[in-house]
Parts: sequence; structure tokens; C-alpha cells
Amino acid sequence: MLDVLSILSGSDLFSGLSARSLERIANHLKPVRFDQDVVICREGDIGRTMYIIVSGSVSVSSDMGWGQRELDRKGPGSVFGEMALISNDVRSATVRTLESTECLQLDNESFDALLDKDLDLAQRIAKIMTRRFSTLVHKTSSELLGAYRALTFALANITESRDPETGAHLERTRNYCVLLAEALYREERYKGLITPQFIDGLYQATPLHDVGKVAIPDAILFKPEGLGPEEFEKMKIHTLIGASMMEKVIRQSGADLFKMAYRICLYHHEWWNGTGYPHGLAGENIPLEARIMALADVYDALLSRRVYKPAMAMREAADKIQHGAGVQFDPNMTLVMIANISRFEDVYLKYQDE
Ligand code: CMP
Repeated sequence: MLDVLSILSGSDLFSGLSARSLERIANHLKPVRFDQDVVICREGDIGRTMYIIVSGSVSVSSDMGWGQRELDRKGPGSVFGEMALISNDVRSATVRTLESTECLQLDNESFDALLDKDLDLAQRIAKIMTRRFSTLVHKTSSELLGAYRALTFALANITESRDPETGAHLERTRNYCVLLAEALYREERYKGLITPQFIDGLYQATPLHDVGKVAIPDAILFKPEGLGPEEFEKMKIHTLIGASMMEKVIRQSGADLFKMAYRICLYHHEWWNGTGYPHGLAGENIPLEARIMALADVYDALLSRRVYKPAMAMREAADKIQHGAGVQFDPNMTLVMIANISRFEDVYLKYQDE
């Protein structure tokens, strides 16, 4: 004879309820037994019952588009099949027995009747479900965000396979960008334009600025002398290629991060006075993130040794940036950068090429 009350009080959903509530639930439960490898709930089906496992175990899995992925395994005391009942929707996952499994079954009508009669039970289930959902959402979104960030940086590092100097350059430029954006964030004129989300997006998206260079031939990318006019025209195309790569990504995921990366790839070589490339945009028509990137990119290029030029001293690089204010760079941003230049120098020294 099953001790239904002690199973209920040990279950993850019903533990802690009053003895009266537990007794009420127990009156509605029906024991059922499933053989090994039986699908009890099928994702997408209409669900009319929930289960409490008495003995045995089940696997919970979901169709991820590329195949089934196991989300969880549940054993004695665990409840499953409750989500379809609560949400009045189809099953959110497939539940299959891993071995012969005994359960207590509760049908939809009894569950609804219990909730109607027992306010205490309804409140408690609402609380438990809210906690379950928020943990699940938080876990899933932080996992997704982590994967997403790692992939973005991996994509940006594709250029490193062709140019080993790129890795440290990417770290430095993303940090210069964040430094500058944080300083601008404190200014009245950027209120509502530069937000913590914008700064976070900038940190993720700026490493993609030169991703279009993967399509530029080595003969141009690594030419020791300066580029001739024709070669320079070919080099300029990296902005368009990067933007078109981002466009393809945006078709799969419209996330703001990639929209920002698109604008950075396309416009980071535009000049404030309208003489940059590829479109000759001027002033504030150049997107904010691209104006920030332009300063970070040029500053780092000045400080770095290249096959065709030696590295510039820090003082000289700062002077050169200052001279570009209102010509190549947004004059206000340049002012803010120069006012904080020692912090940029710290970033340069911190992230050195290996
Ligand atoms: P329901 O949607 O009715 O049917 C499938 C059940 O699988 C669901 O209720 C929950 O009990 C369970 N389930 C769904 N997703 C998860 C998950 N991520 N972790 C644990 N159990 C889950």
C-alpha cells in the first residue's frame, strides 16, 4: 500500500503544504505504472494529466531544431507534466521513462478543482512555478548570452588567423571604446543615447569591426610598403564585406548586437568632415558607435608597429588624435578622449601582443 501522504510531502511541488491540503490532493491521485522507454508526455501534444514519481526515473527532453536535447532527469518525489495544466497549453517537452516507473497521476479537472477550493495550495503553486520559471529563464538566458558572446569573439578572431597582431588589437580597441563610451555616458548631451546596454553592446560588437578583412588578399593586407591607389580601393572594401557578413547574421538573429556590429563594420572609416569611406557620411550622420570605433582604431594603429611603419610615442599619438578633431573625428568625443588619455595609455600597456 502506497503511503501517498508521505510521497506528497516529500515531493518538490507539494512539500510544505498543510496536512489538510495534502489529504485533499491525495484523494484525487491515481497510481499508474509505465514500462521502460515509454513516452508519457510528448512535446506539442495537448496535456490533461500531471504526475508525481513514486519510483523509477524519467528523462525530459526537447526538440532543439537539430535534434532532441535532454533538459533534465527526474526521480522519486519529482513532479512533471504540470506545465501544460497550469499554462493550459501544449506539452513543453517530451518525458520518457528511463526504467520501469511508478507514478501518481492527477488529472486536469481534479487539479483545477483543488486550486479552486484551496487558496493556500493555489498561492503556493503560483509561487513555486514563478520561481521555477525565473530560474529556468535566467539559466537559459545566461547560457545563451555566454555562447553568443564567445561565438562573436571567435568570429572576430577569424582575422587573427591571418594577422597574429589582431588578438591584442581587438582587446585594446574594445577596451578603449568602453572607456570612451563610459566617459561620454556622464555627459548631458549623450543622455538616452549612451546607456549601459549600449556600452555592453559596444564591448561585444567592436571586435567585429575588421571582420571583412578576411576577404582581402594577403598581397594587400601584408604589403610592407604603403598601398597604391588601386590597392587602397580594394582595401576599403573590407567595410562593405564586413557589413554584408553582418547582414547575413542579422537575417538569422536580429539581435541589437549584430545591428551595432553592422554599423561599426560599415562606418568606422568615415570621417567627420565627410571625406572618409565607403559612403562619405559626415558629422552626426555617422552612427555614434562608428565614431567611437574610429577614435579607438586609429589611436591603436598609431601606437602599434606595423610592417610599413614604426610605433608612435604615446604623447605624439595623443597629439595626432587631437589634430584630427573636427576633421577625421567627432570633435566633442576627441576632447573627452584627450581629457582621459592616461586611462587609454593604461589599456595600451595592459594588452600587449604576445
Ligand atoms: P509539460 O509541459 O506539461 O510536459 C512536459 C514536462 O516536462 C513539463 O510539463 C515539465 O514538467 C517538464 N519540463 C519541461 N521543461 C523542463 C526543464 N527545462 N527542466 C525540467 N523539467 C522540464
